[in-house]
Amino acid sequence: MTTNRPRLLRNYFDQEVASYELLQKSRPNASYLSEKIRKWFGRTEKSWKSLDSKSVAIPTDFLKPYPFPKEEFLPDNFDAIVNTSRRIFGMVQSKYQLRAHNVLREFDRCVTLFPEVLDSAKSYDILELSSGGCGGAEVAQHFGNTYQATDFLDGRGSVYAPIHNALNLPVIGFDGSKTPYAFDDNSYDIVACFQAIDAYGDEDNYETFIDEMLRIARKKVVLVFNPGVRAKREKIDNGFELLIRDPLIKRYNGLNFLKCPSTGMPAVTICPEDQV
Ligand SMILES: C[S@@+](CC[C@H](N)C(=O)[O-])C[C@H]1O[C@@H](n2cnc3c(N)ncnc32)[C@H](O)[C@@H]1O
Repeated sequence: MTTNRPRLLRNYFDQEVASYELLQKSRPNASYLSEKIRKWFGRTEKSWKSLDSKSVAIPTDFLKPYPFPKEEFLPDNFDAIVNTSRRIFGMVQSKYQLRAHNVLREFDRCVTLFPEVLDSAKSYDILELSSGGCGGAEVAQHFGNTYQATDFLDGRGSVYAPIHNALNLPVIGFDGSKTPYAFDDNSYDIVACFQAIDAYGDEDNYETFIDEMLRIARKKVVLVFNPGVRAKREKIDNGFELLIRDPLIKRYNGLNFLKCPSTGMPAVTICPEDQV
């Protein structure tokens, strides 16, 4: 038995297809996006099914395209950029242009990694470091929490600006490689950092970054890891265990290791109050 109506998801996909067809008419150079986004419907459906299998009711608001024309995702000089990788660098990746992909993925992460924020009777202040497409903002706010987005602006503005604007989300510029982080001690209940700590430095520096997150968090730090820079550079197969998990176990108390339901990458939650 399904808790949610699959028809709503199909309607959502139809609306996305229609909006990319519209884009294709006005910007023929962007026609490749129409094909690309279909590939990510499968990933979106996977998150939908994962939530549904846990009998989680999916709010209908999560199944709506972003309320602006797809053209807004294109950089001003899009037609002049011939190099594909430069085009990708200059705009939000196609999968993150799909609102339901962003939101359902973060919803499933919440359900698995920090479900306490889904209790509408309570409110948590959440800080997400390197928040990307900000699907987490929609989930957090739907359930009555506050959410602060951050992105690596590096003097060039965020490619996610169309999403930030549509969601009316103020964004704080954040460079994870530079400590101390510009947030006060105990200023948020939850500090989340998903698949971004590897962008701040290599595995040898993770404790410095995590110490900062624990300083800022009152209740919990939630991390999802990517493969680390050093493991990739030195081609270490069990890099997560050797360079991340084992050093963290030595350093912190009460770690709860989990898996990201969307990407299957390792995750951990750490509570500041468990540290002495
Ligand atoms: C793989 S994405 C993950 C985004 C999002 N958390 C998610 O799970 O979809 C990595 C993010 O790290 C950001 N980033 C890159 N270098 C950074 C830095 N030095 N400090 C902070 N964020 C950085 C990128 O802008 C990008 O949004």
